[in-house]
This record gives sequence, C-alpha cells and structure tokens, in this order.
Amino acid sequence: MNQEQLIHEVESDPVLNLFLNSITDQAVLTVDAHGIIRTWSEGCRHIKGYTAAETIGHHFGMFYTPEDRERDHPDENLRMALKDGQYHEERIRVRKDGERFIAEVSIYPVKEKGQFIGFAKIVKDVSARRLLGKQRDAFREELRLSNLELESFCYFLAHDLHSPIRAIIAHCRIVQEDFSSALPPEARAHLETLVRNGLRLGMLVDDLLKFARLGHGELKRSDIDVSAMVQQLAKDLVPQCHCGNGSIEVQDGVRANADQSLLELVLYNLIENACKYSEPGVTIRFGKDIVEKQPIYHVQDTGIGFEMQYAQKLFEPFQRLHGNAAYKGTGIGLANVKRIVERHGGTVWAESVLGKGSTFFFTLS
Ligand SMILES: Nc1ncnc2c1ncn2[C@@H]1O[C@H](COP(=O)(O)OP(=O)(O)O)[C@@H](O)[C@H]1O
Ligand SMILES: [Mg+2]
Repeated sequence: MNQEQLIHEVESDPVLNLFLNSITDQAVLTVDAHGIIRTWSEGCRHIKGYTAAETIGHHFGMFYTPEDRERDHPDENLRMALKDGQYHEERIRVRKDGERFIAEVSIYPVKEKGQFIGFAKIVKDVSARRLLGKQRDAFREELRLSNLELESFCYFLAHDLHSPIRAIIAHCRIVQEDFSSALPPEARAHLETLVRNGLRLGMLVDDLLKFARLGHGELKRSDIDVSAMVQQLAKDLVPQCHCGNGSIEVQDGVRANADQSLLELVLYNLIENACKYSEPGVTIRFGKDIVEKQPIYHVQDTGIGFEMQYAQKLFEPFQRLHGNAAYKGTGIGLANVKRIVERHGGTVWAESVLGKGSTFFFTLS
C-alpha cells in the first residue's frame, strides 16, 4: 500500500475522521504492526507540528529523540504494548521544529475481526503541567525555608528577650521593696504598672518561645485513651469555670493515635478556653464523630461564644476577641492547637453562636 492509498483509507471514514480531528489537545494516531504511521489527526499536527502527508507511511520513531531511536525504544514500546495489552510512559519527544516536550504516551494494540492489525497511540503534551508542578514544588520549598527562618528568628528573639525582661522586673521589685518609703505615691503607682506590664511581656515572650518550639521535634505517636485524658484535665480545669459552676460530659471509649503530650496540650487549651469563656452553669462536652470514615474530635461549650466572622483569626498567634481585664490570657493557645493538629496532618476549626456557645473541631491525620 503506498502513501496515497493509506491517506485515502483514513479519509474514507468521515465520522472517524471528524471525531479524531476534533480532538486538538491530544495526538491520536494509528500505526501498523511494524510501527508505520497509518492515520494522523489534527491533534497530532497541533502537538507534533507535522502534516499528515509528512508522516503517514513513515515509522513513528521519527518523534522520538535520536538517543531513544538508537536504543530501539520505539519498537520496544510496541512490543511491551503487545505483551501487556497496553503501554504507558512519560518521556521526552521531539516536534518538527526540533523542540523537545514532555509527552504522556499510551499505546494499545488494535484488533480487527480478532486479527491484530497494529496499534493506536495517544499522546498528550504535559510539559506545561510538569513545569507548573515544578514551580509549585519550588515555591513550597521556598515557603518552607522562609517559615523555618522566621521560626528561628522568633525563637532567638524570644530567647534573648527572656533575661532582660526578668532583670527589669527584678530591679523594679528591689526598688519597690527597698526604697518604697522614699517614693511619692505617684511614683509607687507607676512602678506597680511597670511590674504588671513587665510580667505580661514576660508571659508573651515565654508563650512565643513555646510556640516556636512546637514546630520542631519528632512526633511520638501512640494509641491514647483520649476520654481518660479529658477526664483528668477536667478535674483541674472545670472548677475554674465561671463562678466554679460548670460540668463536663465526656464520651466514653474515645481513642486516638497521636503524640501524647502534644494532644494533651491541645485538649488542655480547648477545655481551658471552654471553662474561661463561660457563663454560670456552663456545660462542656467532649466527643468524637466519624464523618466519611474520618474521626472528628470536638470540645463544645455553652459559654459566651464569638462572632463567626472571627472564626479563622482566633487561630493566629496573639489574636484575642475578649479583653484581658475580664479574661486573662495571651492569645497563643489556639495558635498552638493549630500548629500541633497540623503537625499531625489534621485540621482544626470552630463554630460558634454569640451568647450561646462554641464548638472546636479537630482531626489528627
Ligand atoms: N470557647 C471559646 N468561646 C469563646 N471564645 C473563645 C473560646 N476559645 C477561644 N476564644 C477566643 O479566642 C481567643 C484566642 O484564644 P487563645 O488562643 O486560647 O488565647 P487566650 O485564651 O489566651 O486568649 C480568645 O481570646 C477568645 O477571644
Ligand atoms: Mg486560651
């Protein structure tokens, strides 16, 4: 069969022709049992740059790199497709203008009336996708490194601030204790304010240090009786609820695979918040639900709640919705919770109705 006859053969099936030529983002071609190109579609021209007349009747190895042709890779592909019923690879191919691209290739043997007659080949140009993937990976790595840098900066800043703050407070205290009688009342009041703010600054710096530390260290996962852990924490924390008047309901038999001390910190923070941002008679509930096979843990309270527009902000370091005068705190607790949960591969989120209560949900993997 000469080249004209082959082209005629394809053109004589108008439906197939129309269908094949409407696909422009994939090259669909057929080759005979020896790898000679028999049909060529519009997508082939689009991706490889050759017209039908330039390819039909030629060996399909013309799209492979000279190195691959040298090592008989094209025919090896056909042999593999015949042996396994299909062959797939992602590999460099060459366009008519010599440009190389990353091709996602599938080859299938074709039979007619039970007789093997050749192969169908589908080729996609995935260069852009691969490039995007590489750029995304590079961006992620850059972000990871800059986060690491920022974390170490925070760590050293907090570490270095620790001692001078302690020294300022200690010296203020010495002045208060040894020279108080020599000071006018106004100076004594200023000194008191200085100590109070120094203590708060010390607390913030300590929290920042703990927050920075949480990003490092190995996770030591084990099987944990979470219900027992919550009961234990509640013994210390629930009496701190508004007017000491609160109760906790803990679902029995809840277990998790997590780092024991980090999970304890998560639950400590959530239960402490539930107790702190509470109303007299608050009820706190801990439990687990299974949603789409995924365990979701929750700590729920019937406390003061917050407006849902702030539900994301709460998890950022030092973000507080409630004033320090009424509710003491530094705003680092939920940031620690988020960091720990994310280190376990989970997520944390909150739902709340102002004046009615809040629920904090988290997953662990
Ligand atoms: N259970 C809760 N109910 C209402 N508000 C809450 C609750 N938990 C946290 N919040 C709000 O989120 C803020 C951040 O919480 P957190 O990071 O634990 O810091 P802190 O408790 O030190 O303020 C709190 O200041 C409070 O405004
Ligand atoms: Mg807190």
